[in-house]
Amino acid sequence: MQIKTDILIIGSGIAGLFSAIKASEYANVILVTKKNKSESNTNYAQGGIASVLGAGDSFDEHINDTLVAGAGLCNKKTVEILVKEGPDRIRELIKLGTDFTMKSGELDLAMEGGHSKKRIVHSKDLTGKEVERALIDKVSQIPNITVLEDYLAIDLITEHNISNLKHMPISSRHCFGAYVLDSKNKESAAIITIIAKATILATGGAGQVYLHTTNPAIATGDGIAMSYRAGAKVGNMEFIQFHPTSLYQSISNTENKHSFLISEAVRGFGGILKNLSGESFMIKYDPRKELAPRDIVARAIDSELKKRGEDYVVLDLTHKDKADIIDHFPNIYSYCLNLNIDITKDPIPVVPAAHYVCGGVVVDEFSRTSLLNLYAVGEVAMTGVHGANRLASNSLLEALVFAERAAIDLNNNISGISTENINPPDWDDSGTLTADEKVLISHSTKELKQLMWDYVGIVRSNKRLNNAARRIEILFEEVEEYYKKTKVFDSLIELRNLITCSHLIIKSASFRKESRGLHFTLDYPETSIAPVDTILQNTYQKS
Ligand code: FAD
Ligand code: SIN
Repeated sequence: MQIKTDILIIGSGIAGLFSAIKASEYANVILVTKKNKSESNTNYAQGGIASVLGAGDSFDEHINDTLVAGAGLCNKKTVEILVKEGPDRIRELIKLGTDFTMKSGELDLAMEGGHSKKRIVHSKDLTGKEVERALIDKVSQIPNITVLEDYLAIDLITEHNISNLKHMPISSRHCFGAYVLDSKNKESAAIITIIAKATILATGGAGQVYLHTTNPAIATGDGIAMSYRAGAKVGNMEFIQFHPTSLYQSISNTENKHSFLISEAVRGFGGILKNLSGESFMIKYDPRKELAPRDIVARAIDSELKKRGEDYVVLDLTHKDKADIIDHFPNIYSYCLNLNIDITKDPIPVVPAAHYVCGGVVVDEFSRTSLLNLYAVGEVAMTGVHGANRLASNSLLEALVFAERAAIDLNNNISGISTENINPPDWDDSGTLTADEKVLISHSTKELKQLMWDYVGIVRSNKRLNNAARRIEILFEEVEEYYKKTKVFDSLIELRNLITCSHLIIKSASFRKESRGLHFTLDYPETSIAPVDTILQNTYQKS
């Protein structure tokens, strides 16, 4: 089956929903999302959105904090755009009905690591859920947005799918939409061809590459892998952010697909990290202590755990006022209480977990990828604002600012794009069989996640990366063979994407012969002193 639309959006987190609202002002939009529409990283965001909204704060300070966290690899131009356009996007969210926490009639601005001022707009400790609710409400009122839940994009359509255009050089390739699996339809015609004048990828991150992650099960790097297969440029994949504090109890339960986050805002509120002898240790690692950027805090915890042979450290809030703790962190309080941890009396057991991909599909300041008519917004994109390490709460902001910019660019250009003569073939799975042995998928997924955690985690080395590369190659070959012979289904598509993302992370990490930001390797522990302009950004494009 084929469907035509003006704009196809893939993903229903903050980036996809905000793009849809904006693009619907001048075009018909189909938004596909692989689970129910609220299931996304956005829905789990706790701390909030960073923006210059308080008296005494300034654009220069937010820009500087972002550049410092980014360890010399940020794109200054996009950082300035992010910071300067941020406050207007927050005001729009408020207009759309987002209920942010207020204090004495003003937005209650919180503090987080790496920020020199209080600038985090939040909705208690459930910011993402509230933003998602407000955006979904708005989208449901707009008649020219069609939302298709349980529709999983498999691959982007470009000239390489069309036999008489196959030889188009990669530099002139266009994206014409995507092949999408209707996951609930168990019939053979479950894969539809959606042809669009422009496609906006808003598929989020890839935390599921790792055994322990704060990211929900949807975060399988689909957008990054699809773009790479279609020939788009992907960059900086070595910079995986590990959040310093995920709840130890949830991480030790391997049946959980993801671990519960103890927000950075808890440290901003005065939480102190201690080892199991009750000693605070951050001062040994950084004068900013608990409020140092996350890469530093995550490595400090990793080093304490390795030195002391312990499984977790604790985050202690017990010196703070009980009512204040419950008022600021109602979600964290009740989640922990259910596990018999009363955070007003008991220190919280925490460990780092994979949290955010700073790299992704390379885009310019209008969210345009290297493929014509393909845009990428939100966590899937590499705008350059995060460089080698993302500043806390800059991600939701990036999604808003660059979704708006994609919509502006499309508004200027969409009237010149036609799909009248674009007739890609329908998905061809003739000769393939229905999967009989799904254990191959679950086994390989576990193996991949374990090996990425053990060999390509917070601290890397040439030996670990080489081991990981060899094993990924074997997994790749096995899964490709299976894929060619089998009718596709969700977990197979996702595993293939996880393998591609892992390959890109390992390749990028092996290429960077220095330690910088989130990438730390025992073989090159120093940061290169070469001038920043000459330090290569790691980009890859399939030929
Ligand atoms: P997502 O919100 O992840 O949405 C991706 C969407 O794409 C989903 O709907 C998914 O189902 C869909 N999708 C994926 N693949 C496909 C496919 N193949 N076909 C169809 N649909 C697909 N950032 C901050 O700035 N502040 C915070 O306080 C904060 N807290 C966080 C807390 C947690 C626990 C986590 C996990 C992240 C947090 N982050 C925070 C990061 C931030 O939430 C994410 O980076 C951001 O929400 C990403 O938004 P997005 O729209 O790009 O992607
Ligand atoms: C958190 O609440 O700690 C998450 C903030 C972020 O990822 O930016």
